[in-house]
Amino acid sequence: MTTLAPWPYPRWVAHRGAGKLAPENTLSAFRLGAQYGYRFFECDAKLSKDGVLFLMHDAELERTTNGHGTGSDLTMGEIAQLDAGSWHSRAYAGEQLPTLEALARWCLANQLQLNVEIKPTPGQELETGRACGALMNRIWPQDRTPPLFTSFKPASLQGAKEVAPHIPRGLLVDKLADGTGDIDLQTALDLGCSAMVLNHELWTAELVTKVHAAGLHCSSYTVNDAWAAQRLIDLGTDGIITDRVDLFSPAQTGPGL
Ligand code: G3P
Ligand code: CA
Repeated sequence: MTTLAPWPYPRWVAHRGAGKLAPENTLSAFRLGAQYGYRFFECDAKLSKDGVLFLMHDAELERTTNGHGTGSDLTMGEIAQLDAGSWHSRAYAGEQLPTLEALARWCLANQLQLNVEIKPTPGQELETGRACGALMNRIWPQDRTPPLFTSFKPASLQGAKEVAPHIPRGLLVDKLADGTGDIDLQTALDLGCSAMVLNHELWTAELVTKVHAAGLHCSSYTVNDAWAAQRLIDLGTDGIITDRVDLFSPAQTGPGL
């Protein structure tokens, strides 16, 4: 059995900043998540037309901005002019989509930890992973807990690994593989991953034992119900990504949540 290395990250992860309480992937959302006591933040990073990493979940601009078309077709200067807050509520009208560098510097300045989901525009998997690695090599001090890179795309994790092999990686999995009915643990091992981050409904006691035995940590997304969180804690998993920063208090200790 492989020894499980210590996990340097908090259990609780604020999804896209503060879930649905503020416009996702904006600095206002991360600030709100921090006000709720969160110290570890998930974000979605992709490349602009001119090679700048910025935060947005979808490939297309329509759902979370007043722009149109594919985000990666715009330069960062154009992206910075979009309104990424009005779709959420009037209080956030005019909010900008930040660069990944801006979020990373905010995390560093506030002693917070960062989970970068490498969310490439389709076709840009490898280069987006490489860009994330290069950015963190440039700005993230070696004496600080490194960010965690995660992705559904093995090519993105491969790109990050090539450029920044020292930064931990986690493979995101939404479904069990057709045919085997299992998770793709071998891909995670081949990529030198430290974690498997699963759709929380997939975890079973057997799967947790298997992943831990392989030397990887077990994390889950997106967990918004108390019963689901308690199940994952009882299973012995290590991380929980949630929208419900208002429901779960990371500072809470003791039995259960
Ligand atoms: O990083 C975990 C989770 O965010 C993955 O799903 O679609 O919310 O990016 P999604
Ligand atoms: Ca995400």
